[in-house]
Amino acid sequence: MTDRIPLARPLVGEREEQAVLETLRSGHLSLGPRLEEFETALGARLGARHVSAVSSGTAGLHLAIRAAGVQPGDEVVTTPFSFVASANCLLYEGARPVFCDIDPRTLNIDPVAAESAIGERTTGLLPVHIFGYPADMPALERIAAERSLWMVEDACEALGSVHADGAPVGARGNLSVFGFYPNKQLTTGEGGAVIAPDREVKERIDSERNQGRAPDMGWLDHDRLGFNYRLDDLSCALGVAQLERLDEMLAERARLAGLYSEALADVEELVLPCPDAGGARRSWFVYVVQLPPGVDRDAAVLALRARGVDSKPYLPAIHLYSFYRERYGHREGEFPICEDVARRSLALPFFPGLTDSEVERVVEAVRAVATEGVTAYR
Ligand SMILES: Cc1ncc(COP(=O)(O)O)c(C=O)c1O
Repeated sequence: MTDRIPLARPLVGEREEQAVLETLRSGHLSLGPRLEEFETALGARLGARHVSAVSSGTAGLHLAIRAAGVQPGDEVVTTPFSFVASANCLLYEGARPVFCDIDPRTLNIDPVAAESAIGERTTGLLPVHIFGYPADMPALERIAAERSLWMVEDACEALGSVHADGAPVGARGNLSVFGFYPNKQLTTGEGGAVIAPDREVKERIDSERNQGRAPDMGWLDHDRLGFNYRLDDLSCALGVAQLERLDEMLAERARLAGLYSEALADVEELVLPCPDAGGARRSWFVYVVQLPPGVDRDAAVLALRARGVDSKPYLPAIHLYSFYRERYGHREGEFPICEDVARRSLALPFFPGLTDSEVERVVEAVRAVATEGVTAYR
């Protein structure tokens, strides 16, 4: 029996171990010096001055939409092709996600569809840089400016991505959110960060992540509603150590994506992740293919598993989750591009540390499944 190849595995080594251990021994495990160190280092990396580290990407999205001014009853235009948290965060505040279809090449929100989805109650736009490919922010920012809408960018999957104009994703001056779950380009275990446009917004976020305390307040002083969305110092220490080798990890992810794309290029009807275009640069988060239309995806997952290869349908369309259907009456056929992609997409093992021979094994298995069908492996 050959070893199973997992979908994702974080790359952590001696440097991370040392950083976490030092922090553990320091006795300062939360609201200590590592928090600011991580925020400063991340800000330096992005060219952004106002960074708030938080306990998860979801927590960051929640605080970001509050800082943007979302109110109960507001509608916010966003993409249905995302991880569920980008829509759920709106529900936390009593706002309604209004979905629109996606661009079939980039899989990001289609600005033309986004504009058509704007209604009288729309107050904001929430684009997601899905799979690390930069969303068309210039077009979305134009729409937001013309319609006086706020903007929050979900950059949870896009640390290291770059827009066509050279700006790092998340550093265009909009409220933006990163996520550092262990499958991400950089991990802090659980964790996330909000990039704020100015000092006042950062102060609000810092206070709300810390139970509504201003920096000069004591433990039982609270002058606004807050949450416990703090990122502890052990996680921040891990983040600082990971940032030191972010470029190396991103380069390895890009190299592995290149290997997959080259080896799978000739598999007919298999849709590969779009290459960079027009100067935009993807930071590789996952390697997701779209299976040929005739292939039964569930059977493909089993067939790949039988060959020791983990894979996962990724991502389901948010509007078709049962609680979104029940709450808002969504149904199949509303966003045909998203639904087609969601039906066919499959994430393959992808992480720095995946060996070239493992990539070859995955490629061989995917090729067999995509070209021969999957009945033989059932
Ligand atoms: C697009 C997107 N948004 C939001 C999140 C939520 O981040 P977290 O899991 O850190 O809460 C994730 C991560 O899983 C994500 O991929």
